[in-house]
Amino acid sequence: MNHSRDKEIRQAVLKRYDGVAKSPRASFSYATGREGLLKLGYGKEFVESLPLSVAESFCGVADPLMDGKILPGETVLDVGCGAGVDLIRAALMTGPGGYVYGVDLTSAMVQRATENITLMNIANARAEEAVAESLPFPDESFDVVTSNGVLNLSPQKGECFAEIRRVLKPGGRLYLADMILEDETAYNPECDLDAWSA
Ligand SMILES: C[S@@+](CC[C@H](N)C(=O)[O-])C[C@H]1O[C@@H](n2cnc3c(N)ncnc32)[C@H](O)[C@@H]1O
Repeated sequence: MNHSRDKEIRQAVLKRYDGVAKSPRASFSYATGREGLLKLGYGKEFVESLPLSVAESFCGVADPLMDGKILPGETVLDVGCGAGVDLIRAALMTGPGGYVYGVDLTSAMVQRATENITLMNIANARAEEAVAESLPFPDESFDVVTSNGVLNLSPQKGECFAEIRRVLKPGGRLYLADMILEDETAYNPECDLDAWSA
């Protein structure tokens, strides 16, 4: 990351999500918690199977698997895994023959995801600290990449997509839930830092 503005944006996002890891509901615009999961259309059975403390740590913009699924035995990467609800669902879907890796920018989120994975006795998933712009995995590692409300937070979206493409196996699938700017002329990286981390 070279540009000083990009660094400022990353610091603002980091600070924001460090806070969200501790208190997901605090003045946050994404859907959060059990209520948010149900509103976004996550399966009732899955939502009800989550301990309340795990469900309450969720935040996202939509269900990345609304039009897709993870098959038993697949290897999956969740980019920006947050506290791990999407990661845990992927681990349940891929089952003991598969594995799910999650990466997140903030150590507080990684810690929360690790606690949630342990609490649910999930043996085929782990979370680690890393950024979407530089994924710590070899080329062609994953059958599926998922992400929920993450890439809009990066000023280096080209790098994120290049990395996702690099780590996907040939024929691999990307299931992405995110926010997009419909009017390209409205893009302004110099806007208020809060707008990058809202
Ligand atoms: C909406 S949350 C994702 C929540 C998660 N899917 C869940 O199941 O609760 C977005 C996450 O993206 C992370 N993030 C933001 N920018 C990132 C980047 N450049 N690389 C990796 N993670 C990033 C934030 O720290 C935050 O935890």
